[in-house]
This record gives sequence, C-alpha cells and structure tokens, in this order.
Amino acid sequence: MSQRGFTIWFTGLSGAGKTTVAERLYQVMQERGLKVEMLDGDVVRTNLSKGLGFSKEDRDTNIRRIGFVCKLLTRNGVAAIASAISPYRAVRDEVRADIGDFVEVYAKCPLDVLQERDVKGLYAKALKGEISNFTGVSDPYEEPLNAEVVLESDKETVDESLAKLVAKLEELGYLEPASARVS
Ligand code: ADX
Repeated sequence: MSQRGFTIWFTGLSGAGKTTVAERLYQVMQERGLKVEMLDGDVVRTNLSKGLGFSKEDRDTNIRRIGFVCKLLTRNGVAAIASAISPYRAVRDEVRADIGDFVEVYAKCPLDVLQERDVKGLYAKALKGEISNFTGVSDPYEEPLNAEVVLESDKETVDESLAKLVAKLEELGYLEPASARVS
C-alpha cells in the first residue's frame, strides 16, 4: 500500500505539550517505516522564519511558511508534522483548506498550569512585562472550534495522549491499524 500524505497540525499555548507529543508521534511513524517530517516552531524560527517576530503579521507569515512546506510534503506522500502555537484561527483554517488532508491537534492546557510549570521561564518574564505580546498573557490565543483531536497534558500522560492521537489517525484512515499491519 503506498503511503498517503497528510499534515498533522499541533496548535496550543507554549508549554502545553505540542512538541513532546509531536516528537513521540514522529518516532512511532518512523518505526512503522513511514516517510515523516517534522516542522517545529522553535526550530523553524532559527532558519525558515529567522528574523520574524511575534506580531500578528509575523506569526501569520510564520504559519503560512510552515503550511507551505507541509503542503509540498503532503502532496508527495509524506506525513508532515507541524508544531507551532499558531494562535490565529483564520490562518490555521486557511492552511487547512490549502492542504486538504489536515488533522488539527489542539494541545489544551489551562494557563495557571502552564504558569506553574513554566519550563522555559517565559511565563514569569511575560507576567513581569519583560516579554511583550506573549501568547496567553498579553497576546491572544484563539482556540480551535473543530480540532480532530484535543490533548490535555494536565489530565493525561504523554503515552495516553499519543495513544489517543494514533487511534484517531487510524480511524481517519491515515495510519493503518496496528492489528492489520504485517511486521
Ligand atoms: S507562532 O505564534 O508563530 O506559532 P511559534 O510556535 O513559532 O509561535 O513560536 C513560539 C515559541 O517562541 C514559544 O514556545 C516561545 O519559546 C517563543 N516565544 C518568544 N516570544 C514569544 C511570544 N511573545 N509569544 C509566544 N511565544 C514566544
């Protein structure tokens, strides 16, 4: 069976678990012998989107660039995994419409939990006003209205989130169910 391309788009606040689950999914897909590529917001901002800031305009440009690469990969039979805050619904929906085979994964986590975790120390800085336009603190985040998958890192383990996501991808026909695979 030839591989069908698709894009798995993680969205959610900084620290909500997008990249953690995205990296685990990447591993699973590689282990299954699938062609898969990952575009992580933090990494993309060091090359493809180097120089962009966090205004709405720059964020939308960042998301359109990531979406463009995902589209090229998707149409060539690759699974593309994108992980960026992507706070604006309109541009997420634009990328979805452009790509077609698109699975939106909302990494949902309450702000107070994120501020408590604060792995990168950015929420503390944002609350002190040392970082401006920080998503969730001083900049908007527009929740997805129809995400295919919602992950809740304050209620689920990483393994549970991953299992939920893989099950959904199987249900949607993007991944072959484990029971049907010949290894
Ligand atoms: S997006 O809004 O354009 O999708 P992206 O995912 O690429 O954002 O980058 C977010 C990362 O940049 C965060 O995880 C954080 O490490 C860092 N960052 C720096 N400044 C900000 C800011 N003002 N708002 C959000 N994230 C920021």
